Order: sequence, then C-alpha cells, then structure tokens
Amino acid sequence: MTKKKMNIPLFKVHMPGSVMKPLKEVLFSGLVNEGVQVMEFESRLRKLVGNPFTMATNSCTSSITLALKIAGVGPGDEVITSPMTCVATNAPISNLFARPVWCDIDVNTGNIDPVQIEEKITGRTKAILFVDWTGIPADLDKINAIGRKRGIKVIEDAAQGIGASYKGRSVGCISDFTCFSFQAIKHINTGDGGALSFSDENDFKRGKKLKWFGIDREATKDSAGNWKGSRWDCVIPEAGYKFHMNNIDAAIGIEQLKSLSGILKAHRRNAEYFLKSLNGVAGIRMPKIAEGILPAWWVFMLFAERRDDLSRKLAERGVHSSLLHVRNDIYGCFEGSSALLPGVEKFQDCELCIPCGWWVGKDEREYIADVIKEGW
Ligand SMILES: Cc1ncc(COP(=O)(O)O)c(C=O)c1O
Repeated sequence: MTKKKMNIPLFKVHMPGSVMKPLKEVLFSGLVNEGVQVMEFESRLRKLVGNPFTMATNSCTSSITLALKIAGVGPGDEVITSPMTCVATNAPISNLFARPVWCDIDVNTGNIDPVQIEEKITGRTKAILFVDWTGIPADLDKINAIGRKRGIKVIEDAAQGIGASYKGRSVGCISDFTCFSFQAIKHINTGDGGALSFSDENDFKRGKKLKWFGIDREATKDSAGNWKGSRWDCVIPEAGYKFHMNNIDAAIGIEQLKSLSGILKAHRRNAEYFLKSLNGVAGIRMPKIAEGILPAWWVFMLFAERRDDLSRKLAERGVHSSLLHVRNDIYGCFEGSSALLPGVEKFQDCELCIPCGWWVGKDEREYIADVIKEGW
C-alpha cells in the first residue's frame, strides 16, 4: 500500500523555546558583546569537546582563517586540502594569498586520502586542511602522523562533525586545530557562530588575541573584569581580526548545547537504520565507516546509480535530497590550481544526501527507505 505523501526537509533549524528568557535578559542587559555568556558557552564547550584549549568564534570560516594564520600560512604558501567540501573550507586559503593544492578523496567516505597528502608535500607546504565530510571523521591518526613527521600543521574542518569521535577520542582533541560551526542548519546553531580547538597552549593563547584585533583582553582587565586604564592602552604586537562571538549568540548557544546529546542520538539512530535497511538495495552503495569511528551524521550520504533520477523521485514523494557540495576546484577564485582527481570525479557522480536529522522520526525514516526501495 502506498503511504501518504510526507514532506521531509534535508535541513532544519533547531531552536529551543528555552532560549527566549536568557536571550531577552542579554538583549536588555547593556552587555551584548563578548562577556559572561561567551565565557559560560566556552566553558561548556570545553567540557563537551574535552579540550581546555577551545574558544568560541563568530563562524567556522573565521576559525579556519585563524588556524591557517597561526599555522604560518601567508602569501605564496601552499595548503594541501580537499576540494570536496563547502567553499568555506578553502576560501580562507585564497584570502591569505596562499594556494590550495588539491588532494584526492576516499570514494567510500568523501574524506581526504592520507596517502595522497604525502605525495603532494613540497617545500612551500604550510598546512594540511581537510573536512570531516558529513560528520564522518577523516583518518585522523594517519593525517596527524604525516603532519608531525613533516613539521606541517594539521587543520580539521569539523563544521559538520560536532560530537563525532575517532577511536574513543572526541573530534577537537586530536588535530593541531579543529574548527566547528554553529551556523543556522548545523546540529546546533547560535544564529551564526563557531569554535576553534587547539592542541598547543601557545597557539591557543595567540588565537585568543588574534580573534580580537590582537589585543590580550585578559591583560587589559583587572580580576573583577573592569578595564585597567583606557581599554586601548595596550600592546598589540600582531594585528588580529574581529572574529569573537558575542553574548547574544552565546546565550542561544548555551541553551542549544543542552539539546546536543539528544540531537546526536537521533541523527545516529536514523543513520544506523539507513545503513541496515538500504544495504544491498539494487543501484545503491553505502558509505564505509571504519572501525572505531563514530560519525555525527549531519546528513546521511549514499551513492546511487542515476543519482539525479533518484533525487527527482524522492522530490516527487516529498523527500528533499541533494549533493552536499560540489568540488571547489571548479570555482574561478581557485583558477590555475586544478588537478586530476579521479576519486573526486567518481564520488561527485553518484553521491546523494538524504535527511537523517532530529526531525526525522521512525515513520519518516521508514517512508524514505520505502521510497528508495521501490526503485527509480
Ligand atoms: C564543511 C564546512 N566548512 C565550513 C563551513 C562554514 O561554516 P560557517 O558558516 O560557520 O562559517 C561550513 C558551513 O556551512 C561547512 O559545511
């Protein structure tokens, strides 16, 4: 029997009603910039990630820019990176006047292929940058071992991967830098916002200054949090950015964090269901998740023959599906950097993302699987 048509979006903005009270308090407090709410949000985030060297920022794009800057990336340098990601991963390379060197990916996960990273290292390589695609952690041990061996900093874009873990360790505790996003449609959001985790305390201290013009906020305030003398009476040895989070976003973030474990459970429950129920369906291939990896499953990715036909069929039945991103090396802003990447080509031909978020319940996931199993 054909089930009643549902309408299931690929993404949905999570916003608990409980944000209203703290938000109202902040809005009329006269203290909307970085202050106690940001400190509270950071303290909760540090516990969640398990890394004390974690700070809030105003976006993941800012976090990536800061990480590249602290890794020493500047004009003319090379950054080894994956083209199969959001352009936000790679735009900061160009904005620092450096050059992306594209690396191929694992066709089973969409993540960067560590073997190819080594082959692409030159004397100008300053950083290795990669995404945890859809929240599936990349091969973090191998990538970080290469970085350590060659003296190159490793930057992990975990915009889609908050709460994921790798061999028992949380994402955010492993690479030199891990960048998170709290943009509107991520697992949790702060309107817009981000975070950056560091493995090195000195990098963390530098990051805290660079996120606010290069000023050491702690050195310019007394123990009660009041400005010592003039707020601009300070030493700025290195020019920074305006990348800090504000109290309005942090007030939302504090409430959002309370829901995160439930959100992650729902995403994982749905992904586990799809992995089992769609396995072996003709015309479909499942992603392969290595032993010890617990993805955050921001969306569920599968590989389909005649992918566009399947996507059209799903749309007709009210299920939104989509390619997550397209290869970044096609964009004019990276002109002159193209490379032959057979893995990327194969992946982009058949990859399709379907909804698996907290808004997808038992009925919805069964409906999606049934529509796919009917064929297309
Ligand atoms: C993989 C990836 N990196 C970076 C970003 C940028 O995040 P933000 O919007 O917080 O700057 C996104 C967000 O869409 C993303 O998906």
